Amino acid sequence: QQFLAPRDPSHPPVVLHYFPWFGSAYSYGTDPYKFLFKCRAKYGDVFTFIMFGRKMTVALGPKGNNLSLGGKVSHVSAEDAYTHLTTPVFGKGVVYDCPNEMLMQQKKFIKHGLTPQAFQTYAPLIWQETHQFFEQEKGFNVYPGPKSYEAIKFFSELIILTASRTLQGKEVRAGLTSSAAKHFEHLDKGFTPINFLFPNLPLPSYRKRDKAQKAMSDFYLEIMRKRREGESDVDEHDMIAALTGNEYKDGTPLTDRDVAHMMIAILMAGQHTSSATSSWTLLHLAQKPLIFKALFEEHRDLFQNEDGTWEDVTYESTKEMPLMAAVIRETLRMHAPIHSIYRKVLQDLEVPPALAAGGNGSRPYVVPKGHFVVAAPGVSAMDPKVWPDADKWDPFRWLEDKGMAQEALDSYSGATSEQIDYGFGQVSKGTESPYMPFGAGRHRCVGEQFAYLQLSVIMSYIVRNYDIQLLGAFPQTNYNTMIVLPLNGYVTFKKRGQSKWILSTK
Ligand code: HEM
Repeated sequence: QQFLAPRDPSHPPVVLHYFPWFGSAYSYGTDPYKFLFKCRAKYGDVFTFIMFGRKMTVALGPKGNNLSLGGKVSHVSAEDAYTHLTTPVFGKGVVYDCPNEMLMQQKKFIKHGLTPQAFQTYAPLIWQETHQFFEQEKGFNVYPGPKSYEAIKFFSELIILTASRTLQGKEVRAGLTSSAAKHFEHLDKGFTPINFLFPNLPLPSYRKRDKAQKAMSDFYLEIMRKRREGESDVDEHDMIAALTGNEYKDGTPLTDRDVAHMMIAILMAGQHTSSATSSWTLLHLAQKPLIFKALFEEHRDLFQNEDGTWEDVTYESTKEMPLMAAVIRETLRMHAPIHSIYRKVLQDLEVPPALAAGGNGSRPYVVPKGHFVVAAPGVSAMDPKVWPDADKWDPFRWLEDKGMAQEALDSYSGATSEQIDYGFGQVSKGTESPYMPFGAGRHRCVGEQFAYLQLSVIMSYIVRNYDIQLLGAFPQTNYNTMIVLPLNGYVTFKKRGQSKWILSTK
């Protein structure tokens, strides 16, 4: 029995559920894709489900993505959907704790720091950090004894080291060996689905989160003070340097505290997304030795000299690795780190008939004010109607000679080519595409190029120096975190040229 008032025919159908307030929270929370595909088969592309009293209206497919991600600021709001989760972690005055117009300008300031010049300096730093991590932190330079590595733990450490050495600056990298690491851990524990669903629980983790936010913010303020007073050098290519001294269009300066809070936001935005992507990438490569071999050949052809020595991996060279790019793209297709993107509906949102037609075939729907509208680009990225062998990890689908993936995307090119200036530079509106792991529209990711650089350099390091092996079965997916992570995926490494696996499970 469904405990609901009779449905208003102008509203999307409501997913059958047995417990009124709880709704479909369990099915959606444990496996969102299974739940969403099943609902789509039953209700069409637009339907509403209940989750802890909230009315969540899902709009699937490229047109569904467009409904929420291409929606007007007056109609859909990210701030109203996220601020209770993000403001206690990032701090006040930035991202979703300010009008959207200010966020757009903050993104512009961030973009100004993500220049090719900065990326040129980042590539060797990422390589050095990765080398140091393998050789010293993980002890691969000496026989480390029997060991296997859980991919997600391994990459969580490596991603924060490389991101802090580059984007965050050398003081933050140095701070990771001291108190900053603890603060980060406490902040991170405040960034979970529980915090999203229940913003004000009287739990110790909430108190620790609040203390850590203050401490982390003070940590950045101190870095800025020391730089300003000449007590430490300014690293001209990090984000602290890029953000300091900016002004909003109306002349209001970006304060040190704003910069500190934006730095926390940047750290959080890239940490789990990139750790998840590098983990899934390595796990797939470990399962597909032939693709790993092809990747090594691409790398060798680009970087090995005739005398056997190796050239450095530079920012420019990361853009000349078609297979590497395809490997990352394909991983993001199958494992979009953010499975659902939420917006709060501020004004009744009309669902175009073409989209509603998937449901009742005739009547246009309205998503009422007060609902959340949910985009799940991962559903169209895994849709067998768009992608042949959708559930097969096949990087070659992105390469020219096969080109299937590009063909699939091209069929939507009319909708994706529109250019819009949201205030942080011209971006492809791209809200009607079946492939958007970095989101689309005004809230689209600004970190995509950095993420590609970071992942390409780290993977190049591994491919050049190691063989890899998957231990046990390919992992299941953990949806109980904000970011889609592998659950118990283990790998082991062998230095190239050595005959024995130096690390084994036995
Ligand atoms: C926004 C994904 C890495 C900074 C987003 C969004 C997605 C996304 C899906 C849109 C969210 C929404 O519409 O609500 C990813 C993935 C990454 C990644 C898959 C890595 C593989 C990064 C990095 C940074 C970053 C490294 C920092 C340099 C941001 C920022 C936004 C954003 C500032 C804008 C939020 C907004 O406008 O509401 N990202 N991201 N991301 N991301 Fe990323």
